[in-house]
Amino acid sequence: MKNTGKLNQKKANAYLFKNLKAFLFGFILVFLIAQVATALNIYSLTFLQELLDEGLGKANPDKIKTLTPVIVRLWIIYGFVLYLAKYMSAWFGGSVSKKLRITIFEKLLKIPDYWFQTKGRHGDMLTRMSADINKVSDFFTLKISDLLIIPMKIILSTTVLFLVAPKLTATLLITVPILAKVFKVGIGKINYHAGRMQFKLSELTEMTRETIEGIKLVHLFRVQKSLEKRFELKADELFKAHLKSFASRIWLVPTVHLTNGLIFGLILWLAALEMQNGGFLTIYIESKYLSFNVGSIGGITVYFAILVTGVLGPSKLLGPILGGVAEVQISASRLLEIENLDEVKDDGTIEVSKNDCKGEILIKNLNFKYDKNNKGVKDINLSISPGQKICITGPSGAGKSTLFSLLIRLREIDKGEILLDGKNIQSIKMDSLRRLIGYVPQEPYLFSTTIKENISIGSDKFSEEEIVEASKNANAHKFIKELDDGYKTVVGTAGSTLSGGQRQRIALARAYLLNTPILLLDEPSSHLDSENIEKIESVIKKLSKNKTVIEITHNKEKLLNSDYVIMMHDGTIVESGLPKELRKKNGAFSKIIKK
Ligand SMILES: Nc1ncnc2c1ncn2[C@@H]1O[C@H](COP(=O)(O)OP(=O)(O)O)[C@@H](O)[C@H]1O
Ligand SMILES: [Mg+2]
Repeated sequence: MKNTGKLNQKKANAYLFKNLKAFLFGFILVFLIAQVATALNIYSLTFLQELLDEGLGKANPDKIKTLTPVIVRLWIIYGFVLYLAKYMSAWFGGSVSKKLRITIFEKLLKIPDYWFQTKGRHGDMLTRMSADINKVSDFFTLKISDLLIIPMKIILSTTVLFLVAPKLTATLLITVPILAKVFKVGIGKINYHAGRMQFKLSELTEMTRETIEGIKLVHLFRVQKSLEKRFELKADELFKAHLKSFASRIWLVPTVHLTNGLIFGLILWLAALEMQNGGFLTIYIESKYLSFNVGSIGGITVYFAILVTGVLGPSKLLGPILGGVAEVQISASRLLEIENLDEVKDDGTIEVSKNDCKGEILIKNLNFKYDKNNKGVKDINLSISPGQKICITGPSGAGKSTLFSLLIRLREIDKGEILLDGKNIQSIKMDSLRRLIGYVPQEPYLFSTTIKENISIGSDKFSEEEIVEASKNANAHKFIKELDDGYKTVVGTAGSTLSGGQRQRIALARAYLLNTPILLLDEPSSHLDSENIEKIESVIKKLSKNKTVIEITHNKEKLLNSDYVIMMHDGTIVESGLPKELRKKNGAFSKIIKK
């Protein structure tokens, strides 16, 4: 998802409309109320003429007395209607953006985890979820009503002006097509610069996120200075992009002012002509609701008032509004890109219950490559019988963790197949598969919530007793009890308030609780001290009972005691067999045992 500066306006507009449609009723309400407000405004101005000409002009206090309350009352009503219109538009905009936020978050949960591994995507996603949604939200709250109200106001006012002085008004309309052309050219520029600005913002967000996550290393390795420099550079790029984006928007402002100036001059010039020749301005309308004579001082004043408040004033806002539309199109298309991302594929149909699962795994000719490089796993063949304890070892980068990712379908196989109890794992429902295969990663991740919720992973189907039981089994109960709030203790971000060994025991308590027939352990004790290793090993031993277990490990004792050993290198299995036999073979395995 990179900003190319190109924008499919049609798609962006369709996306905005799709979101608007869900609240169409509210929107129509906002629109109608706004129209009432506009009509009230113009209507109140028409009384002004009578007040000025008949009341003040002819010094008629009765006229003033009768007309003033009418005008004041209209203005008060106008104020309230305007308040209602603004409130409703905030409600409408808020509703649309709330729905949008939820939709995007739900989508986020469906994107495969590996999508997020590409550089820059965390910050990019965060920017889209915050800044871009805010732009769209602002648009629906503040600008969309203006977008309709202002042109309507201009049209309505122009119509009134047309009625009272057709020739004069027609003369002024020649400026419209010129303005339209100018705007059209401007919008393209705004689109481009708005997109660039959001992209630069993404880069900055990404850097901030990365720094926060690695703040310990920042302090330890004293990289503050170089980070500062890099950040300043990026902040400066954002500043420049912001300035360009802003400039592209605001140049519409002087254009509108210039046009307004021309219109004003034109009217005054025509008024001068009128004084000399007569006939151009003098139009008289008399009806029950509207009486108007532009030829009088009051008339021309009202004409100006409607022109200024109904046409020229609003048209000054047209520039920023159209600029805002161009900007929101960019944000909309960035959100649309998220909505269009591929989701985790699950075409499995078979449900396998835990009790029915024997735990036999057959891997046939398995091949997988990561996108950009040639790394992954090649031609893996492996047969694991129910209840077997297998150890995988081999240098780092050998493809061990990749094999696990394929087993639990975090990644999709390129070639070959994996069978679980004879069934292709692709044909098993993802949900069902993950209930059968437990996975304890090298570095378990904890959410910043209570220990209890971390162990039950948010599921409420486990009782308090079951959670305590699992923790006892995982050798975690004791240390949890000693924490300030016991099981209700809230852990820091990513579990930062616990030690590595404690985090790992929480992860093992999870595994106990989930009690899957198959267990994948990815070096669960690799970076723990010997005391912790001992504790965890005894937990693993208990946990492994009656389960098919595959463990990635470098622990010699463990390797020697396992049912079967697999040595991987460069994505392939280089040696495999019973540990006793492999030891005699004088190959790669015997070398690491002797080390
Ligand atoms: N997300 C990824 N994108 C691209 N290459 C990857 C990714 N993850 C791992 N690799 C590469 O795949 C190879 C195997 O990685 P991995 O299975 O993690 O090794 P191991 O667990 O044996 O240390 C390595 O060369 C690694 O660089
Ligand atoms: Mg690994």
